[in-house]
Amino acid sequence: MGQRNFFDHLHAPSIRRKALHPLTTLGMGIACLTALLVLVLTGLTLFLYYIPDQHEAYERILHITTTLRFGGFVRDLHYVSGNLLVILAALHLVRIFLMGSYKGRRLNWLYGLGLFVLILFGNFTGYLLPWDQISYWAIKVGASLADYFPLLGPWLKAVILGGHDVGPETLLRSFALHAGGVPVLMMVLVSLHLWRVRKDGGLALPPEDDRERLPVRPWLYRAEAMVFFFTLALIVGLTLIFDAPIYERANPSHPPNPAKSPWYFIGFQEMVGYSALFGGVVAPALIGLFMVLAPFADRSRSAAGRWFAPDRRGWNLLFILLLLSQLVFLVLGQWFRGKNWALIWPF
Ligand code: HEM
Repeated sequence: MGQRNFFDHLHAPSIRRKALHPLTTLGMGIACLTALLVLVLTGLTLFLYYIPDQHEAYERILHITTTLRFGGFVRDLHYVSGNLLVILAALHLVRIFLMGSYKGRRLNWLYGLGLFVLILFGNFTGYLLPWDQISYWAIKVGASLADYFPLLGPWLKAVILGGHDVGPETLLRSFALHAGGVPVLMMVLVSLHLWRVRKDGGLALPPEDDRERLPVRPWLYRAEAMVFFFTLALIVGLTLIFDAPIYERANPSHPPNPAKSPWYFIGFQEMVGYSALFGGVVAPALIGLFMVLAPFADRSRSAAGRWFAPDRRGWNLLFILLLLSQLVFLVLGQWFRGKNWALIWPF
């Protein structure tokens, strides 16, 4: 092998042929990395023009969107890659679970869960920054939902708000967390996550897939490059379709009706609508515990890295049911709720 470059150090010299099959990873890990890269680069650009002050933030976003050359495009890229990252990371998580790939990789599963929480929190703290009507009220609803969080609720709400209500402190905190704390923590966790993939001997795959190995260069590099460029094209394509929204300036005395949380928390808002105790505390606590404990409680004997292994049927079924229930709540909250949270027919 010739000179080793930076990327060579991140990979083992050879890889199992099966790891290259598109259905093994669905490319989701690299897709997450790509979205993260776009997010960081566009975030750094927006950082140069934004001011986290309640009298200036809205005008700054208008300036970036309308008068700055390519400003609207960069903002749209940031918005699309941030939201897409939630979906990509969720798909990555789903594939790991359904393949039982957390077996022998429990620590990395926990790092991954930490990353998922950070992705949600990063999106949430960014939501307020335009300081428009929708962002202001969504954060107000989101912060009140945080109050329900088992044990840590009131503390979490205080951390988000920096006071009793959404105000200048909340904006400053959101910015500090969004542009400082969350990205730094994310870089640390992503590094640990990738290092663990390498330390755990690459992807989890059944022993029979051990037989055929290929050199990483060029095979894995080609596959990774393809996923990278495909994700990039997807992000740019979506950016041409979806614009980052900006509504009228935040008005604390005029709540929209209904006031909705950001879409990734709306399933939670929907559940709280049925029962504050069950939907707000018990169900999220049980889901959280299930996600953290599943790799430790799963005693099935099948090898890791096999889709829908027969002896993991129970685990997969439970996981899919949880997932579907959350999707139903999300769809109901996002599209089927109108004024005063009444059920509506959106079509
Ligand atoms: C920013 C978010 C994330 C990034 C950039 C990321 C990146 C990656 C990459 C590049 C891999 C190598 C294999 C692959 O592409 O699937 C991987 C594997 C893995 N990830 Fe993630 N990941 C993220 C989030 C998560 C989440 C949310 C979880 C689950 C809770 C998770 C759990 C794992 C596990 C257990 C492996 C090892 C899988 C195996 O051996 O087959 N990751 N991740």
